[in-house]
Amino acid sequence: YYMSEKINTEVLIVGSGISGLLVGLELSKKYSVMILSKSKINECSTAWAQGGIAAAIGKSDDINNHVKDTVNNGHGICDMKSVKNIIKNSERSINLLQKQGVSFNKKGNKLDQTLEGGHSTRRIVYHNDNTGEEIHTSLLKKAEANKNITIKEDFMAIDLIGKKENLCQGLYAYDGLSESVVTICSNVVILATGGANKVYQYTTNPDTSTGDGIAMAWRFGCTITNMEFMQFHPTCLYHSTEKSFLISESLRGEGARLLNPDGKYFMSQYDKRMELAPRDVVARAIDTEMKNKNYKCVYLDITFKDEDYIKKRFPNIYRRCLELGIDITRQAIPVVPAAHYTCGGIKTNVSGQTECINLFAIGECAHTGFHGANRLASNSLLECSVMAIECSKIIENNYKLFHINHNLPLWDESYVTIPRDENILISHNWGEIRKIMWDYVGILRSNKMLRQAKERLAIINNEVNEFYNNHRISLDLLELRNLINIAEIITHSALQRKESRGLHFNKDYPESNSVYEKCTDVVNTKKDYIMKIVSKA
Ligand code: FAD
Ligand code: SIN
Repeated sequence: YYMSEKINTEVLIVGSGISGLLVGLELSKKYSVMILSKSKINECSTAWAQGGIAAAIGKSDDINNHVKDTVNNGHGICDMKSVKNIIKNSERSINLLQKQGVSFNKKGNKLDQTLEGGHSTRRIVYHNDNTGEEIHTSLLKKAEANKNITIKEDFMAIDLIGKKENLCQGLYAYDGLSESVVTICSNVVILATGGANKVYQYTTNPDTSTGDGIAMAWRFGCTITNMEFMQFHPTCLYHSTEKSFLISESLRGEGARLLNPDGKYFMSQYDKRMELAPRDVVARAIDTEMKNKNYKCVYLDITFKDEDYIKKRFPNIYRRCLELGIDITRQAIPVVPAAHYTCGGIKTNVSGQTECINLFAIGECAHTGFHGANRLASNSLLECSVMAIECSKIIENNYKLFHINHNLPLWDESYVTIPRDENILISHNWGEIRKIMWDYVGILRSNKMLRQAKERLAIINNEVNEFYNNHRISLDLLELRNLINIAEIITHSALQRKESRGLHFNKDYPESNSVYEKCTDVVNTKKDYIMKIVSKA
């Protein structure tokens, strides 16, 4: 059996992307901070981000323009207070990132800015085509050198715990190296676990995006908002071995065009903004082209740009494609849409406050109302950094922290008798969930598809619960349990929205309906706020 252990910390952060690292660095000035990362520290969406960060700092731009573009993209259901608050703070977060060592491309002595879909002007601050890697390595360097920050790799949060309803006092975490479960008691817990895009068969995201924080918060009793709005990026590389390589929207920002396999441009048939229409429009157009004409992929062409320019502006995309036999200076790039971003999440304000005491959620796992029914390109890293700053401020202002031993019970698996075998049940269900979601709850939905998905997911849910209750845990099993929760929450939310709006398109209700000009909330009625293990025993 596992050896159980207990650890205390003042601040516990789950996740080592931009949100987790930045809030950790801010809070380390005052508190002892522990950051958990369920796999290797640099496996997160942040490190893979390409395009950049939206910030209305250019001469020809202002905050009101950025607000207007964000709200237009959000199709009527953005939270104005959050939108204004986040955008107002964009210059501050760019400055803070630079102070933490992040370098952005410059034009003369000013920051250069690029363009992406849905933006009315060049607004995206960037570092070549690997903005995320630059941010992540810079922040990580600072965090690793910081004596008040302890980073625990291969530590996966399982479930939140607290001795009273709505009170969070820590969590159970699975230490992948020793294969044991640790009880971590903390004064505050900050979920910074990223998105849930791995719930789809095809995704631009790293393996870490299994929606763990959202599923944990849901099991704990938090409201989960707007999960029907899963964003599909129009241009993921179509390749037999490289399945999750993004071809940045900034290529289209710099003029790249979409072609079908017959060599014809097609975006003008769908939207007058063509390649620079918002993502929901472009992804749906590609999906329609592919389905109607049975194409396996479409093509993105940037060959008409100067070769040196392409190599200099998009060095990583150029290199990676070349390794795979595609010279993007001479050939159009085969692309398909893939699940990219989770607009919904744990209901919070911009400071990351949830409905539970001492529990915060920031970044992609949170829902502030900033994105509404469709996120504007490069607004995510912005939201992550502003939330990290605001979250650290509210904690500093409200908590006199000290070590408390909450005396939480140790994890007990003594009655679990079945060893970790039958891996095929886990891998089969993983694959099945992701395929059901792709086929039935994807870019194009219908009532029939959604109902079928619901029925099939319910069967898998029973199987996963049964398996979880009787088997020793593993990382895959824990992720599977989160994925099935997420799949059901998305499907349930999509069924509730009987209209089409932004990223949610249901062909039985192809128009939007003002009755649904509001958010979709999902709450778990069986709150497992103590810990599953006690209710199980
Ligand atoms: P992440 O960076 O995903 O980090 C989540 C962390 O939580 C990871 O370290 C993970 O291991 C950890 N974790 C998860 N579950 C657990 C658990 N149970 N226990 C312990 N640890 C856990 N946005 C933009 O604004 N601009 C862009 O140019 C851009 N490009 C993108 C390109 C790609 C390919 C992708 C995938 C996304 C892109 N996005 C972009 C979106 C943006 O990168 C993400 O929304 C953002 O980085 C999320 O940051 P985060 O800190 O919330 O989560
Ligand atoms: C991209 O570079 O296309 C990703 C931008 C984003 O997701 O915001």
